[in-house]
Amino acid sequence: MSFDLTREANLDALRQRTSAKWRLFEPDVIAAWIAEMDYPLAPAIAETLHSAVDRSDTGYRWVGELPEALAGFTAKTWGWQVDPAQVIVLPDVLTCIAQALARFSRPGDAVVINTPVYPPFFTTVRDIAKRTIVEVPLVRTEHGGFDYDVAAMEQAFARTDVSVYLICSPHNPTGSVPSRETLIAIADAAQRHGVSVIADEVHAPLTHPGVVHTPFLSVAPSGLSAISLISASKAWNIPGLKCAQIVVANEELLAALQSSIPLEVTYGTGHFGVLASIAAYRDSVPWLDEVRALIASNSALLSQLLTVQLPEVFFAPPLASYLAWLDFGSYDLGDDPAAYFVERAKVGLSSGLGFGELGIGCARLNFGTSPQILTEIVDRLALSISN
Ligand SMILES: Cc1ncc(COP(=O)(O)O)c(C=O)c1O
Repeated sequence: MSFDLTREANLDALRQRTSAKWRLFEPDVIAAWIAEMDYPLAPAIAETLHSAVDRSDTGYRWVGELPEALAGFTAKTWGWQVDPAQVIVLPDVLTCIAQALARFSRPGDAVVINTPVYPPFFTTVRDIAKRTIVEVPLVRTEHGGFDYDVAAMEQAFARTDVSVYLICSPHNPTGSVPSRETLIAIADAAQRHGVSVIADEVHAPLTHPGVVHTPFLSVAPSGLSAISLISASKAWNIPGLKCAQIVVANEELLAALQSSIPLEVTYGTGHFGVLASIAAYRDSVPWLDEVRALIASNSALLSQLLTVQLPEVFFAPPLASYLAWLDFGSYDLGDDPAAYFVERAKVGLSSGLGFGELGIGCARLNFGTSPQILTEIVDRLALSISN
């Protein structure tokens, strides 16, 4: 079945959208920054939302069958059995992180993250939770990708101030997907050092065809204090509807989290987000499979276009999701290529600077669009450098 994913992916139609992606920049800029995709909604989600509007079902959230729908999805997709009773529903992944940090650590404790990484990890840990950060950078592999440095993580976990590891798996912005063996080694090290683990797995439904995601909790030892954060927001493009889920490793931890999360926080969840997430997990996997195939082919296209038009850019094709981490260090564009490109190429990328010091000279490109728009993006970038 074809969902005709690119039918709305022309610039005139996309600029009709009023969300952040298409409104931050001037109309002559192609937006390729924040993680929103340019595809039409999955039909089951659109129908669910239309019918909720038709019956004026716009009240406060009721989680209903969302935990069961999530558990059905995780079992079918990853063979991971989630107990619906161990699911907590909150507005978004960052709220989940902030609440978990409050529970797992004290002010002044340190949190390990793998840089370069999704900018709100820095702000949530430092500014909201008032914890410090220990960076364990990803390492470049001999195959040209990125991987997790387990030995360096072990060293970091041994520090007395480190109480939490915040893993991004699959990783934003590099799209790397840690192997099962890597995750087992990390979970084992965390347990030995008494470090709690928050696994942000929001990009997990978007692994490219043939790539296997291992849910962190499926390999974590039962005594490890660990949670997984999942949401339909990225994979089905509904982040504005505000609904994320925490899966908790054991009952003790569940009780501790439930008693510490304020009711007002849980009520920040959007009811449309709950309804749309159920429609996503239950009825929209064929749509997702088509998206995964399209973004994998866009990634290959991006590789080819860069090889021909911007051969000095370092790009390790991601194994998951629609974000490309591009290192423009070989071109003379300064520390912030995104600032150069929005001005000179009329393309809006995410600045690499927010992703940590390793982001100097880098930018993130969102290729969750049509091949035609992706081609125009790279044409514009290349032309702005050659001029
Ligand atoms: C790694 C990661 N975590 C969390 C989020 C936030 O997700 P949401 O706001 O949909 O909950 C994003 C959004 O792009 C992300 O990439």
